[in-house]
Amino acid sequence: MLIDTYGRVATDLRVSLTDRCNLRCTYCMPEEGLQWLAKPDLLTDDEIVRMVRIAVTDLGVTEVRFTGGEPLLRPGLAGIVERCAALDPRPRLSLTTNGIGLRRTAAALRAAGLDRINVSLDTLRPDVFHTLTRRDRHSDVIEGLAAASAAGLAPLKVNTVLMRGVNDNEAADLLGWALEHGYELRFIEQMPLDAQHGWQRGDMVTADEIIGSLRSRFTLTPEGESVRGSAPAERWLVDGGPARVGVIGSVTRPFCRACDRTRLTADGQVRNCLFAREESDLRGPLRSGASDAEIAGLWRAAMLGKKAGSGLDDPAFLQPDRPMSAIGG
Ligand code: 5AD
Ligand code: SF4
Repeated sequence: MLIDTYGRVATDLRVSLTDRCNLRCTYCMPEEGLQWLAKPDLLTDDEIVRMVRIAVTDLGVTEVRFTGGEPLLRPGLAGIVERCAALDPRPRLSLTTNGIGLRRTAAALRAAGLDRINVSLDTLRPDVFHTLTRRDRHSDVIEGLAAASAAGLAPLKVNTVLMRGVNDNEAADLLGWALEHGYELRFIEQMPLDAQHGWQRGDMVTADEIIGSLRSRFTLTPEGESVRGSAPAERWLVDGGPARVGVIGSVTRPFCRACDRTRLTADGQVRNCLFAREESDLRGPLRSGASDAEIAGLWRAAMLGKKAGSGLDDPAFLQPDRPMSAIGG
């Protein structure tokens, strides 16, 4: 098991497959992009599958989520999914993507064994999409969502970050649209994980504000603490259900006490928290002949360093060196 000193057990592995992205969301990256990881530094497909196998067979991981950057930019994605789906015990497999390229790949990913998908979409307006992502790809995302839905990737979740003065007036519209299409919408509070270090607490649209603005049009009934479990989203039934909406208050309603995550970066570093300032290198040992048992031991040790919380409320909080796009959401 991957257990930390607070007794939390990590069963949910996030694997970043690339730090690259074809969008430039303002809350994530600067316009010019970032200095990408060099190819030789990235874990190969074989190395990723081996790490996932160790996590699943030796460390009790039951859920594997592929992220980026943008994971659809990784050429070997379908093959990685297929090989992970063949592991015993078979982990649940999911993907967090910006949706560009899903139109072409959703069916193949489903066939490879992908169970679920989260698509990031912050606005229903192409012009606002351009302001937020600096790219004109709104219709690609909408079509990607439709393709994922048609491929049977359900429940299909949509992740939205609201930015003050940009798309914060769209919360209720987005929910109405999601209900119409059968997508489960989840709002995520903006976190200080942008490469530019421009995050300001006062700019952040809070969970309370989001719920308030949804209530102007919908009746929300809390699903209750018992249902939240280790899921970061607090969920509400919309207009009596069964449709739901989630709000992930990473900053104002942290869920660190129930955290069940462990993370692997595209260059083979284990991170025990999104906000950790330290990482543990597994690529070095992996490439110098370490056994599965040795890798598993290093991974367990990495989790023992997991802090109680993100430290966001500490005045001395320091943003991690790696931005979100290089950690994996
Ligand atoms: N704060 C909150 N969410 C973010 N995401 C990316 N950067 C941030 C941030 N700074 C979201 C993306 C995507 C998911 C992986 O995380 O929009 O939905
Ligand atoms: Fe790409 Fe996601 Fe960052 Fe947007 S938030 S630039 S889609 S990695």
